[in-house]
Amino acid sequence: MKYFNNKLKIENVSVHSLARKYGTPSYCYSFNRLKNNINCFKKNFNSFAPLICFAVKSNTNLNLIKEIKKFGLGADVVSMGELMLALKAGINPKKIVFSGIGKTSKEIEFAINKKILLINVESRSEIKEIERIAKIRNKKVDIGIRLNPNTDAKTLRQISTGKKENKFGVNDKIFFDLVNYCKKSKNLILKCLSVHIGSQILDHKPYEKMLQVIDRIIRKVNYNFEFIDLGGGMGISYMGNKELNYKKYCSAINKFLKKHNSKIIFEPGRSIIGNTGFLIAKIIYIKKNGKKNFVILDAAMNDLIRPALYGAHHNILPSERRNKRFVKNYEFVGPICETTDRFSSFKKFQELKEKEIVTICDVGAYGMSLSSNYNIRPKAIELLINGSKVRIIKKRQKLNELM
Ligand code: LLP
Repeated sequence: MKYFNNKLKIENVSVHSLARKYGTPSYCYSFNRLKNNINCFKKNFNSFAPLICFAVKSNTNLNLIKEIKKFGLGADVVSMGELMLALKAGINPKKIVFSGIGKTSKEIEFAINKKILLINVESRSEIKEIERIAKIRNKKVDIGIRLNPNTDAKTLRQISTGKKENKFGVNDKIFFDLVNYCKKSKNLILKCLSVHIGSQILDHKPYEKMLQVIDRIIRKVNYNFEFIDLGGGMGISYMGNKELNYKKYCSAINKFLKKHNSKIIFEPGRSIIGNTGFLIAKIIYIKKNGKKNFVILDAAMNDLIRPALYGAHHNILPSERRNKRFVKNYEFVGPICETTDRFSSFKKFQELKEKEIVTICDVGAYGMSLSSNYNIRPKAIELLINGSKVRIIKKRQKLNELM
């Protein structure tokens, strides 16, 4: 994503031509960013070669998952639907982990049948349910137990998962009980300790703390885990701000691995797919109300709910850069009848015109996957851009499909 002769391009294709050919709003993904993210992620942790399980919830486009699979990644899934999608994309079941606090009997049965790598358990009741199903089918099931390490991830409250008041994982006392339960079970094979303390984490210190907690608990429980699943959560820079210090996170893990002989699993979503996505939208109207200038886009909170749901900020760029660049204050909004249907505000932005195209950045993670048909708005088209090539990876929904 760069300006060439003042025209915004994703790889070699101008945003303007994409809008003209495929319409708006459109989700566009850069293949080379994806490739780069995966290679960087691997490189950052190459000292211990982790199993990287892409968090499917962050982006559920089948064709993108197929591309991700080609780089050797596995999948972290949280529902039967996501598990089916990962399998359909050709991901090896032995690279799939199943997380989530409310797996139904049907989902557990399906996961057992598919012989996935791990079911990560989050409660006493769930472990008993898995054992019950495994017993009936005379199977041995590989599981992990998700620990709630009571660690503050220092991220948005809505996406924090590792504190004791959150619904995720089990506390150390229950963890010890469950380890003992597994030791006695004929149908459960305990292979993994898993954690996930939150999302959009930019400070490495919570990760260091989390590793200390895990270290302490493993010593206490005196059990050799084949896998330690550290979850995902690595944050990205949405507005050119802080970035996670991977070196420090990696060295904390290396230190941990000196004491524990386990294979590390990661479940990254955002750090793999977040900055690959762009939402291209057209300005329907520009409306001045008192001191405020509202830029009304044809994209809305049904296409991208992160600003409405978390107060998240996404940068917005004009498709054509002109000389007078920072003259107007603008609030970018969608056409939906809700006050929260707004994207970002800018104090200084270049003057825009109606019908012009703008691009909302870094929407690859939790953009399309959290989209809806609210207000009977069809879901946007998804395009994959590689150099000068553009491929439709999901068609735009048609209104008659929604009637
Ligand atoms: N593993 C587990 C168990 C998770 O719950 C999540 C995300 C991930 C991995 C992937 O986390 P990531 O690497 O993408 O941070 N909708 C919110 C984010 C919710 C995250 C939910 N869990 C957002 O738009 O910011």
